[in-house]
Amino acid sequence: MKKTNWLAAACLSALLASCQCNEQKCCDESKYPNAVIESIMERRSIRKYQDRIVPRETLQLLAECGVNAPNAMNKQRWQVRIVDNAAYIDGITDVYKKHNPKAAADANFKNMFRNAPAVIFVASNGEGMTEIDCGLLGQNIMLAAQSMGLGTCCLGSATAFMNSNTDAAPYVQQLELPEGYKLLYAIAVGYPDEQPDAKPRDLTKIKFVD
Ligand SMILES: Cc1cc2nc3c(=O)[nH]c(=O)nc-3n(C[C@H](O)[C@H](O)[C@H](O)COP(=O)(O)O)c2cc1C
Repeated sequence: MKKTNWLAAACLSALLASCQCNEQKCCDESKYPNAVIESIMERRSIRKYQDRIVPRETLQLLAECGVNAPNAMNKQRWQVRIVDNAAYIDGITDVYKKHNPKAAADANFKNMFRNAPAVIFVASNGEGMTEIDCGLLGQNIMLAAQSMGLGTCCLGSATAFMNSNTDAAPYVQQLELPEGYKLLYAIAVGYPDEQPDAKPRDLTKIKFVD
């Protein structure tokens, strides 16, 4: 099977597995018309994770779902770095704690990536529509994760800290981004240990134009 076909099949089977159904339908058909819509509507930002590692094959699949996102002229102006190394996560968190002692004082604080065991960093090169490309990439990752029973949290503050603090520079260097690329945001990934309610959405922002 071609690699792209394999990836599509894996994504689809993950979606189907998440709702234990035979066709591309979801469990509660009265609520959602299919599994994709269920993943979109049920995804929430997760800030509490189980103490359980995410297999590398799963993280790789999530990243491959990410780079299959639409992107301007298929220029793929993004870089993706997956970190599941506890020494890296704890090390940069120690730097963060030094500069943000209040955040670290929270009894639930485990690390600066909302306590997740793995982080996917997304970097952009500032050219063209790279930020839109990177945003779409991230949403693919987060929805694929949701479909596989994983939780995620999009993080702008963690990378803002890493970009601006000189003590964090060695950790940014370890990501080996090519010349011109800068961290845009990160995605915390792990098995969720909470089920937050959806925050309200303002549907008046949607209007048909007749
Ligand atoms: C660009 C961006 C940056 C974000 N940065 C953070 C962050 O630094 N820390 C955090 O806890 N959540 C962060 N979030 C998550 C949002 O707070 C969250 O998506 C929003 O409150 C809606 O909640 P929901 O994702 O559960 O639907 C970010 C989301 C986006 C899209």
